[in-house]
Amino acid sequence: MTKPISLRGVSYAYPTHRGQMFALQDVDLLIPASQFCCVLGPSGCGKTTMMNLVAGFLQPTSGSVDIDGKPIREGAGDRGVVFQDFSQLFPWRTIRGNVEFGLEIRGMDAARRRERAEEILDLVGLSKFAQSHPHQLSGGMQQRAAIARALAYDPPVLLMDEPFAALDAMTRDVMQNLLAEIWQKTRKTVLYITHNATEAAFLGQRVIVLSAHPGRIKRDFAVDLPRPRDPLSDAFVHKAREIVAALGE
Ligand SMILES: Nc1ncnc2c1ncn2[C@@H]1O[C@H](COP(=O)(O)OP(=O)(O)OP(=O)(O)O)[C@@H](O)[C@H]1O
Ligand SMILES: [Mg+2]
Repeated sequence: MTKPISLRGVSYAYPTHRGQMFALQDVDLLIPASQFCCVLGPSGCGKTTMMNLVAGFLQPTSGSVDIDGKPIREGAGDRGVVFQDFSQLFPWRTIRGNVEFGLEIRGMDAARRRERAEEILDLVGLSKFAQSHPHQLSGGMQQRAAIARALAYDPPVLLMDEPFAALDAMTRDVMQNLLAEIWQKTRKTVLYITHNATEAAFLGQRVIVLSAHPGRIKRDFAVDLPRPRDPLSDAFVHKAREIVAALGE
């Protein structure tokens, strides 16, 4: 299952003691169903704000955000969300318990829940750790569990805010490859936030570059390199350079 995301004329202002402070301004972005779209921009340009708008945690100050043509409803089961920090899992639940959480609140019976959790844990390579608790896992494993939790109830849209930023470089490479494989298998619509141009070029079919504060869309790149992508190939390096240059413009 997969659905398009659209932002039309979206601005968002945080209230501050000096009045409204615009974090995003006039963002028009249509992400077709099944597209892997990376949003890239400098620190403070409004990336997390954009993600929170699509997740339904914030309401736009003006404009509209919708999934499959319908306004975002908080708590609706059409989005799986993965954040940067390792503390997003429920510490008191096992890894399987974390993955089953979304299925439980949707009323799936225990046997099917378990079957689904096993299937997804296998996809992210954590089957052996189903009974462990989050604190017993490394950072990379916890992020894999967070991805498994987000995928478990098969949401059409996956929202990820720098999910691998806190990992060491080697683990990050492994996770990027894993995510690219998962996307190829599931073809979910992915909104992936990052401040790393190479990561965006590696993962995205499309890379949106935001301007610095307040965030506006500055560039929109198609990345049509074949997968699996080789970050050392000339074509990749060329594309990554183009994106880095746009960031610095
Ligand atoms: N709760 C808040 N109240 C007031 N201003 C905020 C709030 N949250 C964020 N901002 C401001 O809005 C702007 C955008 O913040 P946001 O977190 O969306 O940026 P970001 O692109 O995700 O940055 P980073 O790459 O550092 O994560 C920043 O200038 C920030 O200071
Ligand atoms: Mg952020």
